[in-house]
Amino acid sequence: MEQIVPVGQSIHEPAQHCSIDRQRSIISAVKRLFEKVAIVTGSSSGIGKAIAVTFGREGARVVVAARRQSLCERTVAQIHAEGGHAVSIPTDVTDEAQVDRLFSETIRQCGRLDLLVNNAGIGGGGRIVDTSTQTFDRVIATNLRGTFLCARAGFGHMMRHGGGVIVNMSSVAGVQAWAGTGIYSASKHGIMALTKAMADEGRQHKIKVCAVCPGGVADELVDASPQDIEGSGAISPFDVAETCVYLATLGPHSIVQQIVIDRLMAEW
Ligand SMILES: NC(=O)c1ccc[n+]([C@@H]2O[C@H](COP(=O)([O-])OP(=O)(O)OC[C@H]3O[C@@H](n4cnc5c(N)ncnc54)[C@H](OP(=O)(O)O)[C@@H]3O)[C@@H](O)[C@H]2O)c1
Repeated sequence: MEQIVPVGQSIHEPAQHCSIDRQRSIISAVKRLFEKVAIVTGSSSGIGKAIAVTFGREGARVVVAARRQSLCERTVAQIHAEGGHAVSIPTDVTDEAQVDRLFSETIRQCGRLDLLVNNAGIGGGGRIVDTSTQTFDRVIATNLRGTFLCARAGFGHMMRHGGGVIVNMSSVAGVQAWAGTGIYSASKHGIMALTKAMADEGRQHKIKVCAVCPGGVADELVDASPQDIEGSGAISPFDVAETCVYLATLGPHSIVQQIVIDRLMAEW
């Protein structure tokens, strides 16, 4: 590991004057997720990519999981380029066997699991009367069933390893519904119910389960400049990522079960 020189210590002092424990405490004061193992689903693009990159900057070992392998590898490469640690485990969250493999591989490669962000999700639908059964099944299978499969697997590992934090990506559509958003909104309301029940079940195991509910996010601008993101008038994906870091770093006796992030200048 690179030698860290604490403030006030000359670089000419012998390295052994700064013990390994002291080095670790200095790094963990700066990198808020130092040495945490985190799975972020849907991190091949958009909000999930912003979360994975932010977690990498904060010192986490990030497991990048989504279907498009080449885009997962791109997220991993970006984290590596910034000096972080990441691996890619391509996963379709609608497939139970692939979800089981994601968690067993994470434990095999990284030793444990501290954080899980269930971010993978899709839009879809329209007015209920025009929505096909196939669209209903696809949206529910990805957003609600996918979150259930991953949250259940993550919860099981965290129970056995002394606790952790699970963040489920909901939406303002998880606390409200508008004409034309019914199926998506039903999937996100379902995620809110899963979150509330799992938060209660998690108390005795030191597992915190929370939901983040953003309004319109500039997800397609995740690789754009901060100026372009700001100019879009939408919520920055990095503000959503920062919210996840906040939830993951609250003290041991606090839990915030849901955070709604509204757009300042628009209704959603
Ligand atoms: N953008 C917004 O305004 C907004 C607002 C509130 C909440 N959200 C929520 O935020 C989350 C991220 O969305 P986004 O806006 O960032 O859109 P996005 O860029 O389309 O990202 C969606 C991510 O989910 C992954 N995904 C989709 N289906 C998957 C599956 N079956 N298995 C694994 N991964 C899957 C996609 O990767 P692959 O295609 O590579 O699998 C992609 O990485 C979603 O849950 C969405 O509902 C978005």
